[in-house]
Amino acid sequence: MSDSESAKTQMAPGAAGRLTAAASRSGATTGKPPAVVTEGLTKRFGERVAVNRIDIELPAGVVSGFVGPNGAGKTTTIQMLLGLMRPTSGTAQVLGHPISEPAAYLARVGALIESPSFYPTLSGRRNLEVLTRLGRLDRHRVAGVLELVELTDRAGDLVRSYSLGMKQRLGVAVALLPDPELVILDEPTNGLDPAGIREIRSLLRSLTDRGITVFVSSHLLSEIEAICDHLVMIESGRIAFQGSIDEMLAAQHSELLAMPEHAHDLVALVALCEQAGHPARIDGDAARVQADGDWAAELNRLAMAGGITLAGLQRTRASLEEAFFAITDRSATRGTDGTDGTD
Ligand SMILES: Nc1ncnc2c1ncn2[C@@H]1O[C@H](COP(=O)(O)OP(=O)(O)OP(=O)(O)O)[C@@H](O)[C@H]1O
Ligand SMILES: [Mg+2]
Repeated sequence: MSDSESAKTQMAPGAAGRLTAAASRSGATTGKPPAVVTEGLTKRFGERVAVNRIDIELPAGVVSGFVGPNGAGKTTTIQMLLGLMRPTSGTAQVLGHPISEPAAYLARVGALIESPSFYPTLSGRRNLEVLTRLGRLDRHRVAGVLELVELTDRAGDLVRSYSLGMKQRLGVAVALLPDPELVILDEPTNGLDPAGIREIRSLLRSLTDRGITVFVSSHLLSEIEAICDHLVMIESGRIAFQGSIDEMLAAQHSELLAMPEHAHDLVALVALCEQAGHPARIDGDAARVQADGDWAAELNRLAMAGGITLAGLQRTRASLEEAFFAITDRSATRGTDGTDGTD
């Protein structure tokens, strides 16, 4: 099988299970049973299918990102996993227990769904203490989780004086209060500036050092890709990709970026590449050519023979964000594969 064929096989939505198995082999998992497994999980709201027969498997002990555009079905999926919403069909297990019995696992799960709400006229510490009372949790955990989210210094201040980033960190602190094995966070970086996003990222990374499994959603891959070991990508309620970040990048075509000295040579340059069997397109003042790096010298020779001088020639690899759009575009144009005839 050629590289490009194997790339297509890996990225087919139906191949999600195989990818997860490959992720296990590549050491992305810790040998523990998966933290979350869903089988054909589906949620309809009237005619609309918000979550469409998804099969996901989250390895334990790592950070899994749950990425997809607005309205893709992330919050709906998370609500079903937390027993807050009943699926229309399909099943799921969280920490080995079916989601139809949330009482069996919720004590071991911490969650933050969309923006957390707090009493603005109480301090951060007092808010957490109130929550430990309401949730019958150990009050002695408050100081430790404040330390973990780096809010100890401001814990005595009223929440209404907190920045958005501090409120998000306090939200993560709430999720950590029960001393969870699994933390599920829905868009914890939403609305944060780059510094706030970095703080949340390093906080989430530090959780896996403590053996906690993290499932974190975002509509922007770029906000979480740096900390995820495993990715689940959802688009219009369907899984577009799941597997390790390395696999996703490995499945991408490498490209050459060739810049002719004169922009009017671009069309001819693209034609030359196409004739040589390498798909190419114009991107700004360069030709983007699907080819491995070792074809660069040949491209240079071909261009010269065709009377085109190259002012620049470099190897590139699609970024993860580009990879995501390539995959979602492909799954959208492929349409149904005969098994998802639900809409
Ligand atoms: N209670 C509801 N009633 C009707 N439709 C709903 C309901 N909740 C969600 N939906 C629809 O289900 C789809 C998925 O919504 P969901 O909130 O799960 O997406 P999301 O991926 O979390 O998006 P975002 O990034 O905007 O938070 C959307 O089309 C949404 O309009
Ligand atoms: Mg959402």
